[in-house]
Amino acid sequence: MKDRILNNLIKKEINRQQKTINLIASENFVSPEILKIVGSPLMNKYSEGYATKNRRYYPGNQYYDKIENLTIKRAKEAFKLGKNWHVNVQSYSGSPANLEIYFALMNFGDVLMGMALASGGHLTHGHKVNFSSAAYKVIQYGVDEKTGLIDYKEVERLAKKYKPKVIVSGATAYPRKINFKKFSEIAKKVNAYHVADISHIAGLIVTGLHQSPFLYSDAVMTTTHKILRGPRAAIIFCKKELASKIDKAVFPGMQGGPHNNTIAAIAEMFFETKQLKFKKYQKQIIKNAQVLAESLKKLGFNLVTGGTDNHLMLINLNSDGLVAEKKLEKVGILANRNSVPGDTKPFRPSGLRIGTPAITTMGMKEKEMCQIAEWIYRILVKNESQNKIKKEVEKLCLRFPLLN
Ligand SMILES: Cc1ncc(COP(=O)(O)O)c(C=O)c1O
Repeated sequence: MKDRILNNLIKKEINRQQKTINLIASENFVSPEILKIVGSPLMNKYSEGYATKNRRYYPGNQYYDKIENLTIKRAKEAFKLGKNWHVNVQSYSGSPANLEIYFALMNFGDVLMGMALASGGHLTHGHKVNFSSAAYKVIQYGVDEKTGLIDYKEVERLAKKYKPKVIVSGATAYPRKINFKKFSEIAKKVNAYHVADISHIAGLIVTGLHQSPFLYSDAVMTTTHKILRGPRAAIIFCKKELASKIDKAVFPGMQGGPHNNTIAAIAEMFFETKQLKFKKYQKQIIKNAQVLAESLKKLGFNLVTGGTDNHLMLINLNSDGLVAEKKLEKVGILANRNSVPGDTKPFRPSGLRIGTPAITTMGMKEKEMCQIAEWIYRILVKNESQNKIKKEVEKLCLRFPLLN
């Protein structure tokens, strides 16, 4: 690269990734194949329109049509979907994808019901600073303050009272299984669409380690860059009868030209999720999370819901999460501050969210989880020397080289 300034920054970032323990539950490391496809000449073209409809607004799309159709076919196979499901692979990312679904299924001013950010929901599930709450009347459900679990009776009570047009299930920080069937029953009772946002757990669903939402939803959205270990993007699935509304909402409703390089990388991602080792990887993510959770508990940490069923856990620190986040960052351990039940200030919450997808991709297993828990304890409770632990962290990371 001729640009020495940028080249230097990129090198430093790659070095940072290699030398830190990444416990951010929504992040991961993609394969060298995916890196190559995203940075390939596939990014050089406009192809507004859809391959499925044989309608593009630019010439020269014969190969992109094939790539988009292949990605759609693989997406359907991965989630074992029949003819009654439609797939749109053009969404730029999870946030626009959720807004596109709402745009397709609701009129402005209709009632949207989603999980509160403070309880583990995403901004696009109706948070007050997000476009979703500017465009729709929002009703938020939360978790039970004592158990930290979704209170389905309360969800039903709110749904019956406020009659939402769309109910969103799914979360960004919820350590337990989600009962999509129950959400579907509630949605049916009030004649609402049930939209499942499976961004965080899609890999577990593909491999049969979590209940699939497809029997119980009208639309499903997943990002592809988290537990699925694909490029930064999103996929929208919907019942066939909603296909035209969803496609129109994505293009021309909210987007222009699709990112063809990313769509091709999603096809590669589904090629990878079909391999036997992907199921082993997903099982290891859960095993690692459970060992990490147990180790943290043994060291005296208080976990929301007492543990985890999936890839993440929430530590209730009963103190400033931002301070803890910064202390850990200093030694090369990245975990984001997060609200825990009862918190009221999203910028100064009193918890930490800890996830295992990225470190499991690096190849870390149970032994390393016990070590990581110990470091967290030594930093946050014992206030031990940061320099010493930073060196230990780097040494461990270098034993698990990233494949770039
Ligand atoms: C559940 C959920 N939905 C949607 C999103 C938004 O995805 P993106 O960051 O790609 O816009 C996230 C991202 O963290 C998420 O966790």
